[in-house]
Amino acid sequence: MKRPFTVRTRKLLLDRCSSDTPTKLRRRYDIWYHTFDEQKGSRVWARGREYVMLSSNDYLGLSTHPKVVEAGQRALAKWGSSTTGARLANGSRSYHTELEEALAAFVGKEACHVTNAGYISCMSSIAAFTQRGDVILVDKNIHSCIWDGIRLSSASVERFSHNSPEHLREILVQLDPKTAKLLVIEGVYSMEGHIAPLPEFTEIASEFGCMLVMDDAHGLGVLGDGGRGTASHFGLENEVDVICGSLSKALSSTGGFVASSTEMIEFLRTHSRQTIFSAAISPAQAACALAALEVIQTEPEHLTRLWENTRRYRNLVTSLGLDVWGSDTPAVPIVLGSKERAYEFWKRLMEKGVFSVMSIAPGVPVGKDLVRTAVSARHSEEDFAIIERALAHAARRI
Ligand SMILES: Cc1ncc(COP(=O)(O)O)c(C=O)c1O
Repeated sequence: MKRPFTVRTRKLLLDRCSSDTPTKLRRRYDIWYHTFDEQKGSRVWARGREYVMLSSNDYLGLSTHPKVVEAGQRALAKWGSSTTGARLANGSRSYHTELEEALAAFVGKEACHVTNAGYISCMSSIAAFTQRGDVILVDKNIHSCIWDGIRLSSASVERFSHNSPEHLREILVQLDPKTAKLLVIEGVYSMEGHIAPLPEFTEIASEFGCMLVMDDAHGLGVLGDGGRGTASHFGLENEVDVICGSLSKALSSTGGFVASSTEMIEFLRTHSRQTIFSAAISPAQAACALAALEVIQTEPEHLTRLWENTRRYRNLVTSLGLDVWGSDTPAVPIVLGSKERAYEFWKRLMEKGVFSVMSIAPGVPVGKDLVRTAVSARHSEEDFAIIERALAHAARRI
């Protein structure tokens, strides 16, 4: 028999979901969760309409590269669809270790651990490497996977202004020098497209004895010698203790990784609940990431083209008087400053056949509501012609 109050408490939760204003608005304006029926290169189709994809993170355009696709097919045929288990239990296979060795060598670290999402990799490194009494120092604009890692850890947190070594220093001088400290930054900020001033941060980390974790989801494959990432861009691979990131951007697969010293990675394998209790990355995903890593190292033309396209695109956007928030990378935000203006701009791009994504506070700082765009090596002359027309159309109407 049901107790009378359980009826009321269940209804409380149901009502909270059914009356949620952000969900109602999202569904009414149909901004996110679009489903594409078809995809060919940089073009996607939704409800019979064709769009140029301008918000994917397929920076090098490798998700349809024949070598990547064939590697995935071969892995599927050889190993089946899934390991159906966590790495610790029954989920580890030789292709996982092969990918880990290749990734570690690529980013200049001793060891690596691969998980089934970049989100899990980043979150688990923060959660596992800290404990009560430690302090996590974090850039205010860091990705939500890091905030979730912080919530899971019992450490306290200090936020410093975005990309501000000066503010970080001000905080550090006030902390007890004996406290264990973890400094967390992104190599390339996913919304802003900013590169972290890594030389200043590594200097401060060394001066104050902080361990440095860098989420390089958007730097890997994009920056540095042959795409080796932000640490390589600055020649500071040895100064960054932990590099974590995603396989779902330039590596055009799905999954994540943490690269560091053997001791740190083995510690993570022992203590990270997200690693211990979550299924391993699938054979096809691992094979696609490994093949993409090989392509990056043997076909440098994709990276060259990515940067040509990036410069061209940024010039185009700024020539229209639009604000790109000082982006230095292929992730190029168009800051509109309010959700109404961002919506209008996003809708006008859609009207002219360009697909982008709108990002509003609290996903971005208040007043920085934006339309996130990202350039790919795959964008062609024809794509640029459509993008240019659409941007000019949208810019005229805001
Ligand atoms: C900076 C950053 N870190 C981590 C992630 C999570 O990666 P994944 O999509 O592989 O879970 C993202 C994804 O957008 C990201 O932008």
